[in-house]
Amino acid sequence: MNNHQKMGYNTTIIHAGQAPDPVTGALATPIYQTSTFVFDNAEQGAARFALEEEGYIYTRLGNPTQHALEIKMAALEKAEAALAVASGMTAIAASLWTLCQSGDHIVAGNALYGCTHALLSHSMPKFGIDVTFVDAADLDSIREAMRPNTKVVYIETPVNPTLAVIDIAATAKLAHEHQAQLVVDNTFMSPYCQRPLELGADIVVHSATKYINGHGDVIAGIVVGKKDFIDQVRFVGVKDITGGCISPFNAWLTLRGLKTLGVRMERHCQNAFEVAQYLHKHPKVEAVYYPGLPNHPQRALAESQMNGFGAMISFEVVGGIEAGRRVMNSVQLCSLAVSLGDTETLIQHPASMTHSPIAREERLRAGITDGLIRLSVGLEDPEDIINDLAQALSKM
Ligand SMILES: Cc1ncc(COP(=O)(O)O)c(C=O)c1O
Repeated sequence: MNNHQKMGYNTTIIHAGQAPDPVTGALATPIYQTSTFVFDNAEQGAARFALEEEGYIYTRLGNPTQHALEIKMAALEKAEAALAVASGMTAIAASLWTLCQSGDHIVAGNALYGCTHALLSHSMPKFGIDVTFVDAADLDSIREAMRPNTKVVYIETPVNPTLAVIDIAATAKLAHEHQAQLVVDNTFMSPYCQRPLELGADIVVHSATKYINGHGDVIAGIVVGKKDFIDQVRFVGVKDITGGCISPFNAWLTLRGLKTLGVRMERHCQNAFEVAQYLHKHPKVEAVYYPGLPNHPQRALAESQMNGFGAMISFEVVGGIEAGRRVMNSVQLCSLAVSLGDTETLIQHPASMTHSPIAREERLRAGITDGLIRLSVGLEDPEDIINDLAQALSKM
């Protein structure tokens, strides 16, 4: 199916990258569970290594199941090209190592997924790459941090786990005025709810472990952007640096999960809206952070750059972390687990779990309080999620 660009978005989700298997006619993309590919002759092998002839060489460099996923993701993010890799962290590290070298500088949001924060604050400086963390929702902070050697502005929006919303178009414009590239982690939204490239970003990274796969049974990552850049990430960032290729089976599971992205995201967003409204009215809940609530400070921005408000909610209960622990230990339907974007509702504590790699003072500066609880609202009946939270909150 090559004309998916002209189709509706849900049709693209299902058909992009998918064609009947040329050998058997199989409708579903087969799992090409092989590490290597046989050349017709020595000349063909040499031509493939020299990138003079298209074709497969070795699964760390590419595989047909992985390729089908890449075509679909490029179509969904409206990108020239995509690369599927072993994890979200591979996508992020391989992209940044491809973009930067010793002596370069990165400006990054100060509230980021904990391991991304650790990569930027500990590992990048080891290779001579400086990083300045800023409140990326404040454009002036980004502007002030820019240097002549700034190569990348790196953000997540909505921010994990504060749910602040960053203006992608304005940030891209600012980055470009300084000859830097804007990299957006779009994990929280999926391309169904937000397409940063259409707003001016240069590169999008995903933990496909989350909404892209959607079923909590895969670790995977995606990078999308211009073809030249994606080729560099494939042939340097992944082939030579991280080695983090996606397995054919995980690529297949991700393709399978991705087919229902549209219906899942609609339901995720609807459920989250109901849960957020419930928490907002609850007397034992002190604060709720969800871009869809009318009192969210960037609600208008969220509406203008997102298609739906996503299904991530953070909240604080009266009584701080002790009371919060009581709630997390009392849930019965919701699972006390990190990760997000699964069919199941997940609840976790960023300060001691996903964001524990960030020093406490930095966490507090970024708005990640000790009492903050994060919910990834799943696809159960919303009244069951609400009833479970109600009984857990009643134990406080
Ligand atoms: C926003 C965000 N980006 C990146 C990652 C890393 O992804 P992975 O666990 O697939 O390596 C995560 C993981 O939780 C995440 O939440």
